[in-house]
Amino acid sequence: MAFGHIQLTDELVQSVRDTIDIVDIASDHTRLTKAGRRYKGLCPLHKEKTPSFSVDPDQGLFYCFGCSQGGDAIRLHMLTSGDDFPAAIESLALRYNIPLPAVRPGKSGKPEQQLESVLQAALDYYQRQLADNKSPRNYLERRRIEPELIKRFGLGYAPPGWRNLLNALENKFPERLLERAGLIAESQKSPGDRYDRFRERLIFPIRNAAGRLVGFGGRALGDDKVKYINTSETPSFRKGRLLYGLDLAKRPIRESQRAFMVEGYFDVIGSVAAGVDAVVATMGTALTIEQARLLARFADEVVVGYDGDSAGEEAYRRSIPMLLGVGLGVLRAELGAGADPDSVRFDLGDDHLRRLVREAPDAVVLEIDKMTAEGVEREPRKQAQAAKTVVELLGAVPDSVLRYSYARQAALRLAIPVELLLERLRGRGSDKKPPKQGDSEGIVRSLEEKILQLLLAENAELYKIAELPPEEAFLDPVCRNIYSAFRALYKDGNEAPPAARELLARLPDQGPAVDRMARLLLEVSAGSNPKEFQASVRRLERRWQQQRARELAAQISEAQRAGDQEKLESLLTEKADVSRRLHDRKDEPAR
Ligand code: UTP
Ligand code: MN
Repeated sequence: MAFGHIQLTDELVQSVRDTIDIVDIASDHTRLTKAGRRYKGLCPLHKEKTPSFSVDPDQGLFYCFGCSQGGDAIRLHMLTSGDDFPAAIESLALRYNIPLPAVRPGKSGKPEQQLESVLQAALDYYQRQLADNKSPRNYLERRRIEPELIKRFGLGYAPPGWRNLLNALENKFPERLLERAGLIAESQKSPGDRYDRFRERLIFPIRNAAGRLVGFGGRALGDDKVKYINTSETPSFRKGRLLYGLDLAKRPIRESQRAFMVEGYFDVIGSVAAGVDAVVATMGTALTIEQARLLARFADEVVVGYDGDSAGEEAYRRSIPMLLGVGLGVLRAELGAGADPDSVRFDLGDDHLRRLVREAPDAVVLEIDKMTAEGVEREPRKQAQAAKTVVELLGAVPDSVLRYSYARQAALRLAIPVELLLERLRGRGSDKKPPKQGDSEGIVRSLEEKILQLLLAENAELYKIAELPPEEAFLDPVCRNIYSAFRALYKDGNEAPPAARELLARLPDQGPAVDRMARLLLEVSAGSNPKEFQASVRRLERRWQQQRARELAAQISEAQRAGDQEKLESLLTEKADVSRRLHDRKDEPAR
C-alpha cells in the first residue's frame, strides 16, 4: 500500500478516533471473551498463557497487566502493525472508510513529509530509468528476477553519470532537501558542488514496517568496487531499526508465525522468487536489539539464513542470544559453505531453498551439539568449559520450560546431572520473570494515582475546579503530566471534566503517561466516593505544603544571608500562608 500521501489534519485524526472500535481492532489479534463490561484475552503484545489483556469498549481503551502497555485503539493498532502514527491514521481511515484529504506533493508540509516526497520523486525517476534501459534489465534477467518481482519490490536504476538525479529533480526540490534525503553528496574537493550518490546502480527502495519509503540501497552494476551503498542515515533511515522487506512480509509472517531472516537485498527477492514470502533482511550489518524486537512483534520463531561464510557464521552466532532474548524461537537454515539464500535458489532450485527453511533445525540444539562434541564427557576441563558456555546460551531463553528442556538435553550430552546446569542458571539470575503482576494488580499504588483515578472516573459532582490541587502537588512526573493535561482540558472552557479518551488523545502517542493512564482506567474501578476523594486531595495538598514549607525555610535563611530584603518579605508571606493552611486543615473535620 502506498503510504504517506495524506495530510494529517486534526479533523482526520479526530474522525478516526471517533470511528474506530477497540474491540474490533483487538479481535484481529486475540480472542476476546466478555467479562462484565469489559473483555479479556491473551495479550497480543507479549507471550502469555493466562489472559491479562483487558479491553474496555466504553472508554475505548486497552491495558495489559502482564506487559504494562496500554492506550487507545490507535495505539493498539500501532503496536501490533508496526505503523507509525501517520501510517496508522491512514490505514485505519482506509479500513473504516473515512475519507482522506488529498495532499499536494512538494514544497508544503512537515519536514518528514517533504523528505518522503523527495524520496518518492527519486524512486519515480529510478523506476523510469529501469524501464528505459536495457542493460540493468538484462542483468536482472540473468539473475532470474522476473518482471513481477521487479514490480513488487519497486526496483529501479540509477544510470552512470554525476548529475542525473540532480538534473531531474532540481527544479522540483531545493538541493538542500535532496542532500538531507541522502540522495546527493557534496564534493570534498570543491565545496558547494553536489553530485548523485547513486551512479550506475540497481536501486532497491527501502520501506519501514509501515510501508513508508525511507531510503535506498544500490548495487553496483559497473566497475565501482563498493558493491552496495545505501542512502546516508537520515532521521527516518536508520539501518539498525529497519528490516528490509518487512512491509511486504509482515502478513505472511503473521500467518505462518515464522520469519526467514537473511542478510541481503537479493536474498530477500530470491527467497520470494522461491516461494518463501515471509522473509526480511538485516542488510548486511549486525543484528540490533531494535531489529530483534521489531521482528518479535510479528513472528514466533525465526529461521536465520545468513551467508555460509565466516562473517555470516559469526553474525549468526551473535544473533542467537538476542533473538532468544526477545522471546523468539531460533532455527537455522543450513545453506552450506559459500552459499547465500539467493545462490541456493539459483544453483539448487526453489524447492531446495524452501526445504532448508521448512526443515531448519533448532539453533540452540545445534549449538549444544557443537559445544558438547563426542567424547567431551571424558575430558573434565572441556566438560566444565562446555557447561559454562551452555549456561551462557541458555541464560538468554526467557521461557523456563523451554530452558529446562534444552538444559536436559545438554546435561545428557555432557553426562552431568541437569540440576548442575539449572543451579548455574539460577545463579546467573537469569530466571527472568515476566513483568510483575498479580500482587499489585487492582490495588491503587500511590496517593497521586488514586486521585487521578478518581478524577478520571468522570464524576463531575466530585469536585469543582477550584478545589483541585495545584500541578506542583504531584511529585511523580508521569502523574503530573497526566494531571496537567487534565487541567488544561478542563480549563478550556469545559463545563464537564474531560472524558478519558479525550485526555488520552492529548498525551504523547508513546510513552509512560499513556501506559499509566490506561492502567489507572482499567484497574478495578475506583468507586467515586466524594468523601474519600476530598480526603485524598487534602492529603496530597498537605504533603505538598509540608514540602513547600521545608523549601521555604531553606530559601528564607538563604535570603537572610544574602540580605535580600525584598525576597525575604515575599518568602515570609508565602510561609505564613502555607503554615496557616497547614493548620487550618489539621483541625478541619472531614466533610
Ligand atoms: P553481500 O555482499 O552478501 O551481497 O551483502 P548479496 O546480497 O549477496 O548481493 P549479490 O547477490 O552479490 O548481488 C549482503 C547485504 O549487505 C548489505 C546489503 O544489504 C547486501 O544485500 N551491504 C553489503 C551493504 O549495505 N553494503 C556493503 O558494502 C555490502
Ligand atoms: Mn548474493
